[in-house]
Amino acid sequence: MTRSDTSPHAARYPAGAQAFPHRDLLGIGQMERHEILFLLDEAEQWVALNRQSAKHSDALAGLTIINAFFENSTRTLLSFEIAGKRLGADVVNMHAAQSSVKKGETLIDTAITLNAMRADAIVIRHGSSGATGLIADKVDCPVLNAGDGQHEHPTQALLDALALRHALRERGESADDFTGQTIVICGDILHSRVARSNLLCLQALGATVRLCAPPALMPVGIEAMGAEVFQDFDAALDGADVVMMLRLQTERMSGQFIPSAREYHHLYGLTKARLDKAKDDTLVMHPGPMNRGVEIDSEVADLIDRSIITRQVEMGVAIRMACLDVLTRRARGVEGWGEAA
Ligand code: CP
Repeated sequence: MTRSDTSPHAARYPAGAQAFPHRDLLGIGQMERHEILFLLDEAEQWVALNRQSAKHSDALAGLTIINAFFENSTRTLLSFEIAGKRLGADVVNMHAAQSSVKKGETLIDTAITLNAMRADAIVIRHGSSGATGLIADKVDCPVLNAGDGQHEHPTQALLDALALRHALRERGESADDFTGQTIVICGDILHSRVARSNLLCLQALGATVRLCAPPALMPVGIEAMGAEVFQDFDAALDGADVVMMLRLQTERMSGQFIPSAREYHHLYGLTKARLDKAKDDTLVMHPGPMNRGVEIDSEVADLIDRSIITRQVEMGVAIRMACLDVLTRRARGVEGWGEAA
């Protein structure tokens, strides 16, 4: 694939760089900074389309997209489904709970089965880290990681970056990237694929990232990834431009990681009083689903001028449209993206 002429910011990519050379979207860790920016730029056209009353493109007409979800989801599954449909594709959802996985079929056999149905893209969410990469090795079409265990959730990080870019631009700040921004990610860092993907994405875009959690919920050695590590939430919030809250992922916990939800809220919950001690324009983010009254209070989550949580959801559809569009370009024979297979 070569640099895409359609990107409004193609000139700022490195000379000779390919806009997006990957067949699959498995993690932010595999992506260069200019590839992240390319996907964010590509998503802008879909933000604009999604804000119109008629939200339809036929870019992916005739293609079949399979969403195979082995874990529960509201935002990611629905936004991938909406994204595919708005691009004109046929979209099929496979929920593991109603599939032959329940009869003992393996992940590999499931992947081979989906491949035999000649899907043009497969979107996978799975509870095991690395499962999406395993499936990518077994199928002929692009695979998009919709969250794999504690590893990565790349489209979440991309949509978060797009939401933040829009919020900063509305404030009149130049937000091509996040140089100069200090972003706190607070919560269950240990079990969070969102934290990992966001750390990689935000750092690639120039932000300073602070991770804040109780010691039991902070991965050992995470400093090596370049993050500033905090146990004291108030200290982490001092001078922060953005705070991203994460829920406690109790479904991934074996044993007790916190003394009680009440104590956790006292030390790590984002309350209005705590936010008031930060900068007066600190933005609030949360990937959802939220546990109101635990990691975030309603009073904060619903703050119209500070919370961009619903904006994150809006951007999720646009980012997933961009990813589906870009990853299927080669198969569709889009000019400049190589020959159709
Ligand atoms: N943020 C996120 O992945 O939400 P869902 O689990 O609802 O998809």
